[in-house]
Amino acid sequence: MDERVEQSLLDSLREKQQQMISLLEAMNDTFDQQPHPDLSPPGWHLGHCVFTENYWIREQLLKQKASETELVNLYNPRFSEKTKRSKQIPSLDKLLTWVFHSQHENLELLKSLNGRALDRSLNRGNYLLHFLIQHYAQHYETLQLAGLQQASSQEFRYTATNHLQSQAPTPLTMKLPAGACKIGADLPWRPYDNEYPAHRVTLAEASVSRLPVSNRQYLAFMETGGYRNSCWWDERGRQWCQSQNPQAPEYWRQDESGHWYVITRQGPAQLEPESPVHGINWYEARAFARWAGGRLPHEHEWECARRLGLLENTGEVWEWCDNVFFPYPGFRPYPYDGYSSPYFDGEHYVLKGGSRLTQAEIKRPSFRNYYEAETRFLYAGLRLVFEA
Ligand code: AVJ
Ligand code: FE
Repeated sequence: MDERVEQSLLDSLREKQQQMISLLEAMNDTFDQQPHPDLSPPGWHLGHCVFTENYWIREQLLKQKASETELVNLYNPRFSEKTKRSKQIPSLDKLLTWVFHSQHENLELLKSLNGRALDRSLNRGNYLLHFLIQHYAQHYETLQLAGLQQASSQEFRYTATNHLQSQAPTPLTMKLPAGACKIGADLPWRPYDNEYPAHRVTLAEASVSRLPVSNRQYLAFMETGGYRNSCWWDERGRQWCQSQNPQAPEYWRQDESGHWYVITRQGPAQLEPESPVHGINWYEARAFARWAGGRLPHEHEWECARRLGLLENTGEVWEWCDNVFFPYPGFRPYPYDGYSSPYFDGEHYVLKGGSRLTQAEIKRPSFRNYYEAETRFLYAGLRLVFEA
């Protein structure tokens, strides 16, 4: 089998590279600052994506010798602790010199693949290109989250002119019929290992909200004492509330007269009443669902409802699911054990659908994102499910 690398995919990789460079150039002032204990400094993401390209193209596909620049130790997550990255980030100029050089060579290497490299399983169906493109897409979202965290650490004087009115959650639902449903990846080569193998599951009937929970619905939870009433929270959620004392979603702020507005990467903005709420963690999503008389969907319910066309406004915010991240029956790590396996630890919860910050390459029904329950910096909200 002789599989050339498709030109359109090379163009798409080039596009991802350039998008990340442009965003970073706009973040030059905070390039080396760590915005949050769980988020790397902006300057890390590009270097890490280039390290990943170099590693998979040169060492794994072309079987070249490992390169030994100091940058490799910084940008390989296995060798650099997150808290120590900030001090080692080079200047943007220095980083870009290495980045341009590496990216240019990588695209040339991919264009002129021949011999055994062409037949390696990594190249089959252009797997490696899809992998690298999606890896950029994931880090591009994280980079935007880093920018959002940085914006949210600033002080603003702002007046909300658009006064948010709370609204009780309306159970506008669609019936998810009982029965068998297909779960997992159907696009060969493109998906990540954790989306395989595709299989069928049997679901009970349920009612699934057509829309994600909105800002004004979330305000109703806040105004009725949702954060203070421990009956909506499970034990760990209660502990989290006690230690963090949350009052509102991560990016909400109150102006001088008590009206809410929201922080975006570009600064303060009006809160759109009907937009899906974001900036809440799994505990908050769960407490809200309980307060509303519903629950979070299992990721299978979400995926099944999505495939049946029952869900509206997906892809606006990541949607927290009730279940932890787990391997599908017959799971096999690919292309490396570290991509998914370490997160099958019972501590990571699944998010589905993608957000406004997510690029198209990873917005698909089978895509599974995963974060720990207390993670709040995400562009994530929820959708309700009610028992039939
Ligand atoms: C699935 C988004 C949690 O960003 O840590 C990026 C994806 N894996 N590089 C992350 C990922 C390797 C991962 N998340
Ligand atoms: Fe990565």
